[in-house]
Amino acid sequence: MTEQGNGLRAGTGPGRDGEGAAPRVRLRDRDAELRSAETAVDKLCREFAAGGTEIGELLTISGRPGIGKTSLLHEVRRTAKLRDGATVLFARGGEQQVKEPYHVLRQLLQPALTGLEPGEFRQVMGTWEEVVGPAMGLKQPKAGARRLDPQGVRDGLDYVLTQLAPRRAPLVMIVDDLHWSDLESLSWLTQFAVRARELPVLLVFAFREDENDWQSEARQHHGTVLKLATRKHELNRLSLGSVTDIIRAELGDKAEDAFCYEFWTVVNGNPYEAVALLDQVRDQDLDPVEENSVQLRELAVDANGMTLKTWLDRLGASTLRFAWACAMLGTDIRIDLATRISTQSAEGARDSIKQLRKQRVLTQTPNGNLEFVHPLIGSSIYNTMPEATRTGMHGVAAAEIENAGLGLLAASRHLVETFSGEGDDRTVRKLRKAAAEHLLIGAPEAAQRCLHRALNEPPADDIRAEVLYELGCSALLTDPGATVNQLKLALDPDEGPLRPALRVDATFRLSEVLAHSGELREAALVCQREAAEIEDDPAGKLRLQAASFMWHAFRKSEEDGPGRSQRLGELCDSLTGREAADRAVLAMRAWDLTLRGEPTTDALAYADDVLESGRLPKGLGWTDSTWGFELPSMLGLTYTYNDRIAQAERLFADAIIQFEVAGWSGAHRGFAYFLMGLARFRRGLLAEAEDFLRRALRLSERIGPKLPLAWDAVGVLVDTLLARGRVDEAWELANRFGFHPPYHDTAMVLPDAPSLYGKLLVAKKRYAGAAAALTEAGAQLEARGWRNTVWAPWAGHLAIAIAQDEPDRAREYAQKAIRDARTFGTASAIGTALRLHAEIEDGQQAVELLQEAVRYLGQSPAGYEHAVALVELGAALRRVGRLDDAQEYLYQGIELAQHCSAEGLVDQARRELANYGLRPNRLGDFRETLSQPEWDVAKLAARGVPPQRIADELGVQLGLVNRRLAAVYRKAGSGPDGLATALGLPGQPREATRPSDEADDVDGAEE
Ligand SMILES: Nc1ncnc2c1ncn2[C@@H]1O[C@H](COP(=O)(O)OP(=O)(O)OP(=O)(O)O)[C@@H](O)[C@H]1O
Ligand SMILES: [Mg+2]
Repeated sequence: MTEQGNGLRAGTGPGRDGEGAAPRVRLRDRDAELRSAETAVDKLCREFAAGGTEIGELLTISGRPGIGKTSLLHEVRRTAKLRDGATVLFARGGEQQVKEPYHVLRQLLQPALTGLEPGEFRQVMGTWEEVVGPAMGLKQPKAGARRLDPQGVRDGLDYVLTQLAPRRAPLVMIVDDLHWSDLESLSWLTQFAVRARELPVLLVFAFREDENDWQSEARQHHGTVLKLATRKHELNRLSLGSVTDIIRAELGDKAEDAFCYEFWTVVNGNPYEAVALLDQVRDQDLDPVEENSVQLRELAVDANGMTLKTWLDRLGASTLRFAWACAMLGTDIRIDLATRISTQSAEGARDSIKQLRKQRVLTQTPNGNLEFVHPLIGSSIYNTMPEATRTGMHGVAAAEIENAGLGLLAASRHLVETFSGEGDDRTVRKLRKAAAEHLLIGAPEAAQRCLHRALNEPPADDIRAEVLYELGCSALLTDPGATVNQLKLALDPDEGPLRPALRVDATFRLSEVLAHSGELREAALVCQREAAEIEDDPAGKLRLQAASFMWHAFRKSEEDGPGRSQRLGELCDSLTGREAADRAVLAMRAWDLTLRGEPTTDALAYADDVLESGRLPKGLGWTDSTWGFELPSMLGLTYTYNDRIAQAERLFADAIIQFEVAGWSGAHRGFAYFLMGLARFRRGLLAEAEDFLRRALRLSERIGPKLPLAWDAVGVLVDTLLARGRVDEAWELANRFGFHPPYHDTAMVLPDAPSLYGKLLVAKKRYAGAAAALTEAGAQLEARGWRNTVWAPWAGHLAIAIAQDEPDRAREYAQKAIRDARTFGTASAIGTALRLHAEIEDGQQAVELLQEAVRYLGQSPAGYEHAVALVELGAALRRVGRLDDAQEYLYQGIELAQHCSAEGLVDQARRELANYGLRPNRLGDFRETLSQPEWDVAKLAARGVPPQRIADELGVQLGLVNRRLAAVYRKAGSGPDGLATALGLPGQPREATRPSDEADDVDGAEE
């Protein structure tokens, strides 16, 4: 990466703003558009001054080439700059830079971002610095950085702009020639156009209207931009009067009406063509009289259809060559580079420039660089290059750009245009390196262009497969289909040999992509087959064996579940070391044991063996590409289901942060949200669970319809909604999504979908359907040997579904669930199984089951399950006439249910109390709600001890004391002054507790 050197800001020098030397022209026939733009700017500034924030707009200016878009934009820009406090950012697309990733956004944002104070810069960047920084050319990717997900870059940019806009508001962002924007910039700009409405930002985009001026991949963005525009202006041709005025301003009043009319029709009211034709008329000294109308047409052909011959005649060979070099560089053309690319002497270049300026081809910008007078001239010159010259000159350009220290990223767009078929190793090396650099700034498409070109070079036989492998990996985050094909090719012996280490990696990657697109069986087999071939690479072999176990485990069903589990157990026992691969196998085994409902202590022992002082070991991190995120996920799931939820949450929080920092915004982040949602759900924090799960679902839907992730999220969301008492909403969500058999074709849904579906049917009182669904679910799970009653609580719910018709069979299932739960052995599993059994029992028997359930659940982190058991125990006690006890459990249940946001359960408990003449609320002695630590601070505070001393005395931090005091005051319904009375304690003189007195109190006497 060092080669990139000072080329980080290539192509975005200070003269890039296109304001260059262009003289201000009087704009004709554009009053309406100018007024509209002025109104938009005024409105933005006014509303912002009045405190408005969600005031953004999108103004578009479109039309044919040369119709006057850029000229109009200049006026808008000038007007905006005159406004007090407004920030104006500008960028333009370039026909030659259309494949240069982030070319437009770098121009647009670099000045604003580099202008920030360091502190402000950090705030604006937030956690996104390592994502947005490299993409925007503000910093080098960190050593050892991973490829960036382009969606992550877009999300990061969203964040950055949301931070930046209010700080620089009102903000006007102007982009000219949007049709030539690189796709990376364009896709963000269109996405941002929606968000800009909620910010003090006016976006102004100018572009050509004709679809053919847009790259095919950009056309959808064209449509979106038009749809989102709040002010849309398609520029019309100039009127006869205006063109006549332009002619007469140049040639004087002698220009005859008939001549002007002919002139106007010839140029069709197009100002660019008018200016060009006028030049010709002047150069040819043509009299502007009616008789010359015919000649006018001939001149127009010359003015427009500039062929190689016309340019040669006009400029001469060596000047034209210099112009070609400039055309190759596009915009913001460095003279030294153009000189070297055209292979001219400094003096020759000076002459060429002089000539080109005289001929109104080039102009100089304030930063000393060159610019085409108009992009149409640049295009015309570029297009006259004979093919061989063009490919050759691109090669020279690539070399010279690198020599100038501008780096491979900048050089690579030329490299890909060079002539292939030479088989030059150096070119291949450079292209591969450029590809790697592109991946680090979140531009996989550009990386792929480099690698495709490298393949065409072609590479030497012995590295061809390696290039294919790199090509496959480059599309990992964006194009699974392409990845599969390229990796299969890389592994195909006919394509040449692949280094053994890479073979293992290519196989693993291939299996990963297959798995992520639901082809889990194929994924497992690919690994199995390759592992069988490996002889002298035990680590590689183990990696692929482990991967095949992993993919089988994620399958919806498998041929020989118990057999696989046994083989995994044997593999596990054979491990001697604690390398990453060994630990990976342990993690799989921990998860396998969990699913099988084997004793929790065994699963946890394996899981704890995977971690290193409670954290993921090196090589098994969330963003680690050797193993992928499935592995830490399995570990986190193991903790979630074995009642060590806090540990799971720590892992999942790391996942969210790490994916964010790495910019992996797609399925990865979505899955991390799902996992966190699941953990929160298991813990009974239902509102938070719902929020995480909805976010996961949204992210999944953004990527594609009905991915496995969406299935996972919907399943747990349904469960969460049921727990919150929103049964109809759960039902509706399940139906809308299609959450019912046969579920996802190939991938297992986490947690067990059939059990969840059956549970939903029970909640809807559709007992027959539930019975059928759960019986089938049970049969399949038994065959697979999976008996975890929390993961798949089919038996307990089946008991409820059939209790009415087949009480004996129901009891058998309920007891089976309890047996399985006891084998597994976690408090939450046993407690829940007992509670479910109680639902089909009456009287004293139900009371006893629920008492035991409450005892177990009280020792588990499963808050919501505990709350349900408390409420049900209360109800059961009421049914056997023990009203006092009933009341106590119901109150406890309500408190816990409130804490869980289980509104339905709160209502149920209140109804239970009210219906039987009990008070629906504790006539609270709030003192019972104080925790011990809260009591400790409360007692001291009531005696007038100031917070700092309380902290010292109790040996805790002041912040914590203050937080506990706040809770005490809230629960007591009283501030410091009434606290002693509220607590029923003797009071003390209180002056010293007021914060303002504290400073004086520091040296005060000890009480
Ligand atoms: N309203 C106008 N009145 C007079 N002259 C104009 C007007 N608009 C543009 N011109 C002149 O026409 C020429 C072309 O205009 P401009 O560059 O703005 O066109 P454009 O639409 O941006 O073209 P392109 O699509 O190629 O970028 C300029 O030289 C400018 O001076
Ligand atoms: Mg223009």
